[in-house]
Amino acid sequence: ATERTLSIIKPDAVAKNAIGDIYSRFEKAGLRIVAAKMLHLSQAQAEGFYAEHKERGFFADLVAFMTSGPVMVQVLEGEGAVAKNRELMGATNPKEAEPGTIRADFATSIDANAVHGSDATESAAREISYFFEESDICPRG
Ligand code: CMP
Repeated sequence: ATERTLSIIKPDAVAKNAIGDIYSRFEKAGLRIVAAKMLHLSQAQAEGFYAEHKERGFFADLVAFMTSGPVMVQVLEGEGAVAKNRELMGATNPKEAEPGTIRADFATSIDANAVHGSDATESAAREISYFFEESDICPRG
C-alpha cells in the first residue's frame, strides 16, 4: 500500500553536506518527498518528539545531539514507505548497519546516526503530525 513516513536528516549528516546524497537515495528507491523543512529544534521540540524515550538513559544525550544544529525533516511517500526507508537507513547502531545503507555510509555513532525514520505506520502518522499540517503535504500519487 502507499504509505507515508517521517524522515529526519540529523545534525551530523546536515553538517556533512549530505542532504542531497540522502535525498537521492530516497528518490532512487521510489520514495517521493512530499513535504520538507529545515529546522533547528528547540529543547522542547526535541523532547516532545522523542517523548517515548524519556525514561531511557540516553534521552538527555539524544536531545542534546538533536538540538546541536539544524535538521532536515521530510515526509516520504510511496509503496511500503515505512519499511523501505528503514531498509535504506540500516540498523540504528551504525556498527551493525549493512554496507551501502545511509547509516553505514554517514553515521559515526548510535547518537550521531545520520537519520531517523518512523518505525511503523502508526508512529509515522504521529510523527508527521508533530511537524506538518495535512495542508503542508503535497501528495503526487
Ligand atoms: P532514532 O531512530 O532517532 O530514535 C531514537 C534515537 O536514540 C536513535 O535513533 C539513536 O540515535 C538514539 N540512541 C542512543 N542510544 C540508543 C540506544 N541504546 N538504543 C536505541 N537508540 C539509541
